Amino acid sequence: MHNYKVFLSVDNFRTDSDKLVFDDFTILRIKQGAQAAEWRRKFNSKKVPRHVLMKDFNNYVTDEPVSDELIDNIIEAGIWAPSGLNNQPWKFAVVRDNELKTKISTLTRYSKIILNANVLIAVLLDNSLSYDRTKDCQAIGACIQNMLLAVHSMGLGAVWLGEILKNKDKVLELIGGSNALELMAVIALGHPAEKSGKGMRKDAAQTIIFRK
Ligand SMILES: Cc1cc2nc3c(=O)[nH]c(=O)nc-3n(C[C@H](O)[C@H](O)[C@H](O)COP(=O)(O)O)c2cc1C
Repeated sequence: MHNYKVFLSVDNFRTDSDKLVFDDFTILRIKQGAQAAEWRRKFNSKKVPRHVLMKDFNNYVTDEPVSDELIDNIIEAGIWAPSGLNNQPWKFAVVRDNELKTKISTLTRYSKIILNANVLIAVLLDNSLSYDRTKDCQAIGACIQNMLLAVHSMGLGAVWLGEILKNKDKVLELIGGSNALELMAVIALGHPAEKSGKGMRKDAAQTIIFRK
């Protein structure tokens, strides 16, 4: 689930900034060029919008609790990810406690997403199991993506939070993890409040650099 739900084209607006961040929404200046096609497609229009207002996607879930059984199934999906030498370098911490969630929320600019979430799953790399950092990080990425796919298939909503990694040691301290553990992501999840809009991606043609 992505972090914004509403995109509005704003033409009668003047600013020299590329990005204006407000409490609850962001206004982006759209540059002509590489990204223009994406925005034209997004708005299904021939015209590239001058500015786009993005409403923050904070209240993305309801208060309805996510059961422990669902959490276990999500983690089960995660641990079936592939890993180099099958070293399975992941560990998880499940946070429901409101007081703890509040403390964790102060460690990221995405605090509202944390506070709104019903449950957090912190995904950690167990460095005592590590054999190759690049491959271990790839395995953790696969693990997280598996979890997000499971979340989606259950009709739940989640946000992959990485910005909080700037405070990974403080998060580790709050969840009482050993020194060998390293925070890789926090997944914030719950029952979706409403259906999210479509995401946005470059065309495949923009990403293929070689074909012969
Ligand atoms: C490594 C990584 C870190 C991310 N960190 C954040 C984050 O801190 N906050 C957030 O709102 N979304 C975060 N995201 C989600 C991306 O913003 C999102 O995947 C992207 O905007 C595309 O949206 P979509 O996947 O819903 O289509 C992260 C995604 C990845 C893979």
